[in-house]
Amino acid sequence: MTHFTILEYPDPRLRTVAKNVEKVTPEITTLSEQMLETMYAAPGIGLAATQIDRHIRLLVVDVSEDYSQPYCLINPEIVSKDGEIVHEEGCLSVPEIFAKVTRANHIVVKALDKQGEPFELEAEGLLAVCVQHEMDHLKGVMFVDYLTSLKRRMIEKRLAKNRKLPPTAPSARSAL
Ligand code: NI
Repeated sequence: MTHFTILEYPDPRLRTVAKNVEKVTPEITTLSEQMLETMYAAPGIGLAATQIDRHIRLLVVDVSEDYSQPYCLINPEIVSKDGEIVHEEGCLSVPEIFAKVTRANHIVVKALDKQGEPFELEAEGLLAVCVQHEMDHLKGVMFVDYLTSLKRRMIEKRLAKNRKLPPTAPSARSAL
């Protein structure tokens, strides 16, 4: 099993804008599978290639209770979105921090799957939140960017403090 190291905020590499995948090669297919393993082990419900320092437009998500519904989205584009949802988001790159973010509640995304086949995904609620959160990562955007600068500074301080403490058990809440 390959588990990648996940970059943590405020690592400047998380601000890199990812490039489209030109061709879905076997290497890309393997990478997406390894990203899923990394995400499950974290544990998390979404992971963008940006977070493992690979700057290509590839993300994986699985919001099911038993990790039985993985999706790999390559070169994802939102076709339509509507409604509004406020969800308390976390992020594997911002450990142990959660904050409310407003996003579209219903989206339709077109993408390539891990074999390079085009497909459309209609997502609602948590899955919609998760896909939008991961698509942000591909643009170098993080959920903390939606918060006030005061709140962001508090988060930076708390992260710095947490890094000096011995590691704790992973949070039961899901990080994206
Ligand atoms: Ni994230």
